Order: sequence, then structure tokens, then C-alpha cells
Amino acid sequence: MVIDGKAIADQIKAELKPQVVALVDRGATPGLVAILVGENPASQVYVRSKAKACEEIGIHSEILELPEDTQEETLLAEIGKLNSRSDVHGILVQQPLPRQIRTEKAVAAVSPLKDVDCFHPVNVGLLLIGAPRFAPATPAGVQELLMRSGNDPAGKHVVILGRSNIVGKPLAALLIQKTRGGNATVTVCHSGTNNLAGITRTADILVAAIGQPHFVRADMVRPGAVVIDVGINRVPDPARKSGARLVGDVDFDAVREVASAITPVPGGVGPMTIAMLLKNTVQAASGAA
Ligand SMILES: NC(=O)c1ccc[n+]([C@@H]2O[C@H](COP(=O)([O-])OP(=O)(O)OC[C@H]3O[C@@H](n4cnc5c(N)ncnc54)[C@H](OP(=O)(O)O)[C@@H]3O)[C@@H](O)[C@H]2O)c1
Repeated sequence: MVIDGKAIADQIKAELKPQVVALVDRGATPGLVAILVGENPASQVYVRSKAKACEEIGIHSEILELPEDTQEETLLAEIGKLNSRSDVHGILVQQPLPRQIRTEKAVAAVSPLKDVDCFHPVNVGLLLIGAPRFAPATPAGVQELLMRSGNDPAGKHVVILGRSNIVGKPLAALLIQKTRGGNATVTVCHSGTNNLAGITRTADILVAAIGQPHFVRADMVRPGAVVIDVGINRVPDPARKSGARLVGDVDFDAVREVASAITPVPGGVGPMTIAMLLKNTVQAASGAA
């Protein structure tokens, strides 16, 4: 079974739409601002697709584009202005940031009440103690995909490849909670893990988030396991007009033969991340209304 992330994301957006209409009627149109520093082509694509998704369901969206050589204090001042705008309920600072800006400073400058990515240390702490203000977008997208495709992680052994602050760590924090959608037994693997394939073969649910094209091979997957591919990697493809295509961290064609369910790239976790971001923005606007 190929899990259709786009269809599930569309379903979530359709559920959000009436909530947005109700907020607009009350004069509290949800607003999301994405800050883009520099000209990273992948970041530009992500930010634009987030803005387009906002428009689809009636969320007001803005993109604040700043030059590559923006200094840290300038960015922090811009974030401060957005924190104090009552028509802005969600603020995203697109990563990666240029070298002269410390990511942790930018993340901590966003008001925790508008931190719809759930990157602020206070929100990460709330997530860890089981009282989340916002669910982190990509991990929540993975959780929602599992639940809505009939693959409740409760009681399952989930192996996560990758321990980044954006995907691996918050996903582990989400799935170990004693809540609906949680209650999993979680193992997190990384570049220091010994016998990685031995561990991945014990997974009922395997989540790959390492940023290495086709890293997960069929012999690393237990027959019948559910495989969620978070990776987005651009690889050369002379057959394409653009000369490149997007692939995940999983060797999809081989792994689909052994897995009971698998997400494609594109069309798997990517659209879910955006849907969860919209959900958080609507939640932030509802809280402020
Ligand atoms: N679908 C979406 O919406 C979405 C959202 C975010 C990210 N992504 C994609 O997901 C992937 C991961 O993103 P990220 O931000 O989490 O990446 P990241 O910050 O680069 O982290 C990668 C993690 O993978 C681990 N790793 C790398 N190579 C490994 C190997 N050979 N064996 C074991 N572990 C290895 C690293 O281990 P160490 O910690 O030991 O270095 C690190 O923990 C990327 O392709 C990214 O584009 C997709």
C-alpha cells in the first residue's frame, strides 16, 4: 500500500477551511508570515508552497524576503516587529539561515505563542513533558499520516533514522507520549549508531529522516513493516527538463516490495508538513481571537 500524503493533507485542509471561515467572520483572519533570508532555491520552493497552501484555505500569508548578507540583529528586529503585530498569528523562519546568523537566536526570538513550527525551546520543552502548545509540523505530519492510514503507532517499535531538532528528536518526543497517536516504543538512530541495519530490521514502523538519497534498502526492512520517508533529496536526472528530480531517503521501488505500507517522495510527508503548519496557524489565531 502506498500511503497518499497529498490526499490526507487535502482532507486536513478541507477540515480546516470552515474554521478559517468562522475566524474570518469574527474579524480574526489567521495570518502567517514566512521569513526567507538569502536565495536558497529549495527554501524558496518550500516557502512559496506554504504561502500557496495558506491562500487555498483563506489564511492570510506574507513572505518577508531578506538579503543573504542580513545581519543577526536586523533579523531579530524584524521578528520583533512581527511578534507585536496582532494580525500575525504564525511566524516561520525558514532554515537553513546564512552563516552570520545563529539559528538558535532566531528560533528563540519568535514569540512562543506564534511559533507554529514548534522550534522555540519553551515549546520544545512543553512537547517533551507531554503538554504541547503546538505540534511540530513534520513530526505531527508523520504521526497524522500513520493514524489516518490505519497504522496506529501504539505498542509498536518505531525506529527513527536521524536525530535533528526538526525531525528526529521531536518525532521521538511525540511518539513516546502516553496519548492517542503515541504510546510507541521508540529507537532513534544516527551516524554514531552501530549495527544500523540490524536495528532497522526490528522496526514495525521505520521512519527515515537523514537526507541521504535511497539510503534505506530492502534488506534493511522487516517484511510487513510500515516505512515513512521524510527525506527530500535532489538527484541529477538528465531525462528531466530541469535536469534533476526529488527522491527520498528510501529506495522506494525495492522497499515497497517488502513493506506493508510506504510513503512516496514527493507526495508523502511533504504535503503533510504544510497541512500541520496550517493547522497550527489556525489554532494560534483561534487562541488569539
Ligand atoms: N518532508 C518534509 O516536510 C521535510 C521536513 C524537514 C526535513 N525534510 C528532509 O528530511 C531529511 C532530514 O532532514 P533534517 O533536517 O532532519 O536533516 P539533518 O539536520 O541533516 O539531520 C540528519 C540526521 O541524519 C543522521 N544521519 C545522516 N547520515 C546518516 C547515516 N549514514 N547513518 C545514520 N544517520 C545518519 C544525522 O546524524 P548525526 O546527528 O549523527 O550527524 C542527523 O541526525 C532531509 O532530506 C530533509 O530535506 C523533509
